[in-house]
Amino acid sequence: MTPRAWDVVIIGAGAAGLMCAATAGQRGRRVLLIDHAEHLGERIRISGGGRCNFTNRRVQPENFLSQNPHFVRSALAQYGAQDFITLVERYGIAYHEKTLGQLFCDHSAQAIIDLLHAECALGDVQFCHPCTVTDIARTGAGFTVQTPNERHQTASLVIATGGLAIPKLGASPFGYRIAEQFGLPIVPPQPALVPLAMPPEWLAEYPIAGNSLTITAQGEATAPRFQEQLLFTHRGLSGPAILQASSYWQAQSWHQEKRSPLVINLLPDIADVFAQPVSSKQTLAQRLSEFWPKRLAEAFCATHRWEKPLNQFSHKEKAAINEQLHHWLIQPAGTLGFAKAEVTLGGVDTRALSSKTLAARSVPGLYFIGEVVDVTGWLGGYNFQWAWSSGFVAGSHV
Ligand code: FDA
Repeated sequence: MTPRAWDVVIIGAGAAGLMCAATAGQRGRRVLLIDHAEHLGERIRISGGGRCNFTNRRVQPENFLSQNPHFVRSALAQYGAQDFITLVERYGIAYHEKTLGQLFCDHSAQAIIDLLHAECALGDVQFCHPCTVTDIARTGAGFTVQTPNERHQTASLVIATGGLAIPKLGASPFGYRIAEQFGLPIVPPQPALVPLAMPPEWLAEYPIAGNSLTITAQGEATAPRFQEQLLFTHRGLSGPAILQASSYWQAQSWHQEKRSPLVINLLPDIADVFAQPVSSKQTLAQRLSEFWPKRLAEAFCATHRWEKPLNQFSHKEKAAINEQLHHWLIQPAGTLGFAKAEVTLGGVDTRALSSKTLAARSVPGLYFIGEVVDVTGWLGGYNFQWAWSSGFVAGSHV
């Protein structure tokens, strides 16, 4: 069978693959986009509670975790948040800023999927899905890509198959396998932006599932501090502050065998919980209820046996309680895994890739973009921005 000839074959039609295809197609490249999914853009469709948090006004290189933290700089400089916002505005998609620079569609994430398909149509991108790739081989001039019914020949091959989060949405380790096939190193993938599991004895001590409060959380003592909601769950801890901190907690495995605990400040806006009580007979639980849900305050004080009026605590006890509230150390048993994770930490090692083009240094014509790469954004639109930026950059060079 004579192979069909393309300039670019992209495997994975998610956020990064669609962006890359549109960019390359509009440069006049003949582009084929292959995906094994029946429905494309599912991760975009369900993102941001169905409204897609498509970028963040405050995107900076510091908002990404990678073994090479400088790697993202070039791609973000070539295609930043404002570039995607301009594209969204060109399509007349109404959006709003929710919090902390996070931009969401006013109506539906489908508008972003439609935008990407319209951009691909402008570049005459051809689609093949649902379609499985059974083999990839290097040829003199490029690569052959085998599917059950066809063989494709291409000068440039882009791997955009994402990470391992939420397998039921079509996540697969395909991209890592291709990297390994071509001798590229992988930073071991781990769940990130993921709820944390607490040991059974801890769960028994804190029977407060369903309660939430504003805290600051750090994945370890030197990690960035996130001031957002913490949610107590039946299995442990969740909420945006915990999801953010979870990525840094997981990343400790890059440098040390045993992870240090998370550091949580349960009263980020109150320096001294004993200062200015309503009355000296007020109990600590009553005092904490001014800042926390009542049930949480009562359960927390019962667990710690802090059950007396404020005026009965000694100076030493007060100092210890303030310390405990502002510096609560949490040692999770683990995470809830890829089934509950929003993204993957780790992936194709950036040291094997050019930050300017996303091409593999040792395999001309082979590119890796999006979440399959060892670049993980914070919660809040950063991961889509990485998909747009890396997709645009590879699409400009293939
Ligand atoms: P993505 O996973 O989007 O696409 C990969 C594509 O490759 C898929 O279409 C898949 O079917 C295909 N594929 C995989 N294996 C294949 C194979 N073997 N053969 C062929 N095709 C294959 N981020 C953000 O910035 N804002 C947000 O609001 C959210 N919200 C959110 C909610 C939920 C529930 C999740 C799970 C994740 C988010 N994210 C997010 C993260 C964001 O969705 C994610 O970072 C990007 O979708 C990554 O884009 P990629 O294109 O790299 O992978």
